[in-house]
Amino acid sequence: MKALVLHGVNLNMFGKRDAAHYGTLTLADIDAKLQSLAEELGIELACFQTNAEGAMVERIHQAVDEHVEGVVINAGAWTHYSYAIRDAIAILRCPVIEVHMSNVHAREAFRHHSVLSDVVKGQVVGLGVNSYLLGLRAAVDAARQAPKA
Ligand code: DQA
Repeated sequence: MKALVLHGVNLNMFGKRDAAHYGTLTLADIDAKLQSLAEELGIELACFQTNAEGAMVERIHQAVDEHVEGVVINAGAWTHYSYAIRDAIAILRCPVIEVHMSNVHAREAFRHHSVLSDVVKGQVVGLGVNSYLLGLRAAVDAARQAPKA
């Protein structure tokens, strides 16, 4: 099974951003933990980060063509306003799990709303790197339970 983890805008700066919200792990550390989990789960995992909204949309389109079976996305600030990313996610037929390192509901009001929330299968927020790891487990679990087309 192929899975994909998508990291959005500013997430390449993990490790240099506010540690109170995002901890001290770098994006490379997070991706290494995700790859170890992928090995444990027996799946093939690709991780992708971009600061360009169009590049993220195109990576999601590519996932459709590659028949990716499970997606985890932390869209960063795009979560709160990007209808372009929302519409791209809505094209995917596989389970998509939205994740956030910080507890977005305990922060500024603009972070409380996600334009992705109703086009994803579920959300994991506020658990640091565990948000990603639990998100990947959930995506793979849901994909394994999905009836084969
Ligand atoms: C974030 C939360 C977003 O509100 C913020 O814009 C980010 C990171 C998180 O992982 O907690 O860049 O998605």
